Amino acid sequence: YTIAANQVKAHIQPTMYGIFFEDINMAADGGVYAELIKNRSFEFAMPLAAWKIQKKDGGTGAIEVINRSAERPENPHYIKVNVKSDDGYGLSNEGFRGMGVKEGEEYSFSLFAKQESDNNVKLSVELRGTDGAIIGKAELLPTDKEWKRYSVKFKSAATVQKAQLYVWLSGKGIIDMDMISLFPEHTWKNRPGGLRADLVQKLADLKPGFLRFPGGCIVEGRELSNRYQWKKSIGDIDKRENIINRWNTEFKHRLTPDYYQTFGLGFMEYFLTAEDIGASPLPILNCGMACQFNTAEMVSVNDLDPYIQDALDLIEFANGDASTKWGKLRTDLGHPAPFNLKMLGVGNEQWGEQYIERWKIFTKAIKDKYPSIKIVSSVGPDPDGERFDLLNTTFRGLNADILDEHYYRSPKWFLDNARRYDNYDRKGPKIFAGEYAAQSVATGSPDNKNNWDCALAEAAFITGLERNADVVNMASYAPLFAHVEGWQWTPDLIWFDNLKSYGTPNYYVQQLFSVNKGTDVVPLTQNNDAVAGQDGCYATACLDNNTHELIIKFVNSTTSAQNVSFNITGSAGYQKQATITTLQSDNGNAENSLEKPNAVSPVQRTITVNGHTLKVNIEPRSFKVIRLKNK
Ligand code: AHR
Repeated sequence: YTIAANQVKAHIQPTMYGIFFEDINMAADGGVYAELIKNRSFEFAMPLAAWKIQKKDGGTGAIEVINRSAERPENPHYIKVNVKSDDGYGLSNEGFRGMGVKEGEEYSFSLFAKQESDNNVKLSVELRGTDGAIIGKAELLPTDKEWKRYSVKFKSAATVQKAQLYVWLSGKGIIDMDMISLFPEHTWKNRPGGLRADLVQKLADLKPGFLRFPGGCIVEGRELSNRYQWKKSIGDIDKRENIINRWNTEFKHRLTPDYYQTFGLGFMEYFLTAEDIGASPLPILNCGMACQFNTAEMVSVNDLDPYIQDALDLIEFANGDASTKWGKLRTDLGHPAPFNLKMLGVGNEQWGEQYIERWKIFTKAIKDKYPSIKIVSSVGPDPDGERFDLLNTTFRGLNADILDEHYYRSPKWFLDNARRYDNYDRKGPKIFAGEYAAQSVATGSPDNKNNWDCALAEAAFITGLERNADVVNMASYAPLFAHVEGWQWTPDLIWFDNLKSYGTPNYYVQQLFSVNKGTDVVPLTQNNDAVAGQDGCYATACLDNNTHELIIKFVNSTTSAQNVSFNITGSAGYQKQATITTLQSDNGNAENSLEKPNAVSPVQRTITVNGHTLKVNIEPRSFKVIRLKNK
């Protein structure tokens, strides 16, 4: 193989490798959003879902669910509890597949309460382990006859995967309760009511170039009424209207119903997280069309204004200063500095004439007011390969900025498509490989695995993305997260339970590309041709102008080892010691798991460079990243 280290072919965008986030597979509620109480504000279709009335020692009382929708349409339900005995009456919450709590960690219990009678009803909160033992407790005495928030902290004496929370009420009287909540004190950046630190850390470790949010199909909704509306996802959490999650009824055999979006992880939190992990924010907004795989409901083009206004207001929210309405709101929410929004998606997985019609109106309105904002346009999934071509041609004619292509395909497709962008029109729109993942069985199959064969095929494909970095500016694997006990879609990048998480082999592929991204692609060739499948090998090379290194990425997809030699031209030479990181397994079915999180994970060592030649033994079924430091 030859590497021409002085012939820059393409600049690699800082955004090249990023993250796709969607609240699917309990990614947000029950996942990264650290709230431990499920149905905290009684807004599920069955308002007492996840709650159980508890009685002990002859305790008695009654619970009514009150609907105050005229007064509080965004948070209509609360419970009124008539405590009829001095003690022994209350309720418990099951959490999201239980509550994961850790020994010695502090938890904050809070609620909105209002005493209805002269006698103040007292709360005794108990955290109980799987065997029913009390592992943490606290008392709270609400005193006001108006709604007020109360909170108390306590520690857990044990680590338990599936704890439950009991709230006992004592002293005869009537009390109203809403937004009953339990959060760990230790969250990402220790923000109160924040995110699970271990999960966000996994995102930070990817060193992502962008964070796309909030999806995915939940942007669209099955019907327009349950589309994602960013304005309802910011500000006080008790004012964020809960809706049923678009993924609630999907694959019922895997996830029981009761999958709601509380929006505790809302747009402000998404922007903050993107900032925390150094990723450029990429919000995707509804373009007036519900999911075309479901109802395909859409608003008439004459009624698009509120949707467009949401997009314009979002840009002002992210970038405007405190003299603007939405910039002021961001400032009031504690973030005076702008979020530096540079791009915005108009629709997710939309297609057809109706989409183009709406896209044109959106794009004109956005570009008229904010010409520098790049619009990400949907081309969606394309099982037959026709939709991409059609939309690509249309969007090229419309001077679109970035096209969001999705591929959920077989490992073979990924291997066969490493040259996908080699002959792509260099003058047209840029490509965002916005959702992709090799499917071990079939798209939508619950039997899909995050196995090494799939991850290796993705690595081979990504060498092709990187080689064409002048066209492909962004790429993200999808979906991102999945709870091992509650998911609708496989494969997924990161799996977790209530306490732990692990990165899949696919995660490590993403990470190796991202942390070794480099700044400029240089040619790596075999007989003057790109290395894109000859003898089952795939490779790309780039310079990192910040660290003064040459970075080689090499995939051997075969079952035999390959002794390869790189002849490097156009360089003043390299330091003798290079680092080589290998991701490998002889077993294509190998997977990581909560028990064996590192079964397939990167291993680093050093190798010797001889002048301008580098000889490497590339193991079967392996992906290697080699970094050579300039002399
Ligand atoms: O990633 C899961 C789903 O796949 C996304 O919601 C959607 O955009 C795609 O069809």
